[in-house]
Amino acid sequence: MVTVIFEPYGRKVEVTGNETILDAAMKCGVVIRSICGGKGACKKCKVRIDKGEVKLLSEEAKLEDGTLLACQVVPVTDCVVYVPEESRLGVQKVLHKGKVRPEELDPWVRKEYKDGKVVIIYREDGRIIDERDKDFKPLGLAIDIGSTKVVTYLVDLETGKILAEAYDINKQVIYGDDLMSRIEYCIRNKDGYKDLHNAVISCINDLIRRLVAMSRTKVADIVHVVAAGNTVMTYLFLGRDVRGFADAHYEVEKGSYRANARDLGLLTCKNAPVYCLPCVGRFLGGDIIGDILTSGMWKSDDIQLLIDIGTNTHVVVGCRDWYIATTGPGATTFEGYGVRYGMKAMEGAIERVVIRDGKVEYQVIGNVKPIGICGSGLIDLLAELFVNKIIDSQGKLRKNHPNVVERNGKLEFIVVPASESGTGKDITIDEQDIKNLLESKASVCALITTLLKKVRLDLSDIKRVYICGAFANYLDLNNAVKIGMIPEFPNAEIEYIGNGSIAGAYLVLTNYKYKDVVENIAENLTYIEMINDSDFVDEYIAATTIPGKKEYFPTVWSLVS
Ligand code: FES
Repeated sequence: MVTVIFEPYGRKVEVTGNETILDAAMKCGVVIRSICGGKGACKKCKVRIDKGEVKLLSEEAKLEDGTLLACQVVPVTDCVVYVPEESRLGVQKVLHKGKVRPEELDPWVRKEYKDGKVVIIYREDGRIIDERDKDFKPLGLAIDIGSTKVVTYLVDLETGKILAEAYDINKQVIYGDDLMSRIEYCIRNKDGYKDLHNAVISCINDLIRRLVAMSRTKVADIVHVVAAGNTVMTYLFLGRDVRGFADAHYEVEKGSYRANARDLGLLTCKNAPVYCLPCVGRFLGGDIIGDILTSGMWKSDDIQLLIDIGTNTHVVVGCRDWYIATTGPGATTFEGYGVRYGMKAMEGAIERVVIRDGKVEYQVIGNVKPIGICGSGLIDLLAELFVNKIIDSQGKLRKNHPNVVERNGKLEFIVVPASESGTGKDITIDEQDIKNLLESKASVCALITTLLKKVRLDLSDIKRVYICGAFANYLDLNNAVKIGMIPEFPNAEIEYIGNGSIAGAYLVLTNYKYKDVVENIAENLTYIEMINDSDFVDEYIAATTIPGKKEYFPTVWSLVS
C-alpha cells in the first residue's frame, strides 16, 4: 500500500498493487482528462511526479516534455503528483439553455383537496404521491443527462416558470471522458455500472441542493422528475448494467422508462415518479427524441433535417410521422482527441480564430492565456488556413507563411507562440492533427449526405435544418461549410435549437400530452446503421478533402477556384 498526494488539490489516497496514478486520481475524486479511458492513446492525462518513484507500464508513458501519462504509471513508493493545468478538467463552457416554447401548462401531477389537506395525485396511475397543506406548491425537475455535463431546471408546476437552473460536469468523467471508456470501465469492474450510477446521482443531488438554495424552496417539494439522455446515460441513471452496449448487436429495451425517485437515490419527495424520454437504439436515446420534440419537426409537413454533433453525431431527416435517423462517430477530434493542442470548450481554450493580413488573431474562453484550442476554434482555424492557402485541399501545409515551421521532420503551424501561451510552449497544429480533423468532419458530412441518398432526397429538398448540441451552437456555420463539414442547403433555413435534451425534458415535464408525442416519435423513428455501408464509405472518402464534392459545396468551390 502506498500513498499518493495530488497537487495542487492536496488530496491524498492509498493505492495497492497495479493501480495507476489515473486510478488513484479517480479514487479520490481528482478529475484528470482521460479521453481514451486509460489506454495510453489520447495523451491527455499528463502528470508530473514531484516526489517518489513510479513504474512505467509502456514505452509511451514518458512524453518528450518529461511529463508522464497518469494511466501508464504505477506508484511504487509514496508519491506527490502534480496535475498540470492542461490535464485538469475545468468548468466547461456549457450550453444549458434549450429553446423552451411557451406552451399551455398541463403537468402530470394534480392537486386535490381532502379534509383541509392537499393530496398530490399522479395522473399516470392515479396514485397519491404525497399529502401536504393547502399552500403547497408542487415543483418538477427537468434533467439533461449528458455524458460530459448534467443540466437541470427546477420548475414551478403551477406556472411552468423555471425557478432556477444549474449545471455541472457529469461526475462520471473520472471513469472516462467518452461513452466507450465508461462501458469498458463497467466491463473491467464487476459492479462498475453501480459506480457510474452513484456518480451521476451524486452529481444530480448536488445540483438539486443548489437549485433549492437558489429558489428558496425545499427538496421535498419536487414531486415529479423528467430526464433525457443518450441510451447509455439513461441506463446508468436508472442503475442498469451497460456492459451489453459493447456488443454492436445489443438490443436495448425500446420505449420510455419509469422509476421512483426513492429507488434511484434522488433528493426529492421520496415518492416522486421519474420519467425518462424514450430510447430507440444503442446510440439513439432520449436526448435526440428531445431534439425532435423541441425542434417541432414532428408537426411539420415540410421535410426537415436535424444535426446533433456531440460525443456522437446524430442526423435525423423527416417530417410529421416519419423520421429516419443515423448515428456515427462524434466529432471527438474537435473535443481534443487526436489533436495535440485540442481541448474541450473550457477556460483557456481558443474558441475563435481569424487570420488577418497573415497574422493570427484569436479569442480565448475566460480571457486568460490560451492553453489549447476547442472545437469551434479548430473549425475556424482549418477554414482560415484553407482560405488563406496555408493548407491545400488535402490538408497539407505549405511553407508560404512564417508560422509554418519544420520540427523533427514534420511541418506545423504555430497558432500561438510560447511567449503568449499559458503553458509556456507554442500552441501548434500539424499535418497529423489536420488529417484527424478532416476525418472527423468527413464523417459528419458523409452521415448527412448518405442518409439523404438512402431516402432519395437532395440537399435542395430540405426546407429547414436544425443544429443542436453545445458544440454545434458555438461553431461558425460559414466556416463549418467552408471546411466541408456541413453541406450547403440551398433552400433551407438554418435554426440553432440549443440544448434540445433539456428543453425536451422541460416540455414533457410541463405538459402531459408531450409524453404521447415523444413516444410516437420513438415509435415512428427508423434507425439506419451506416458505419459499414458502402455508400457511406464512398461519401466519407470524398469528404476527407476540403471542402469535398463540388455538388455539395458549389459556393465554396466558386470562392476558392
Ligand atoms: S493516454 Fe492516459 S487516459 Fe488517454
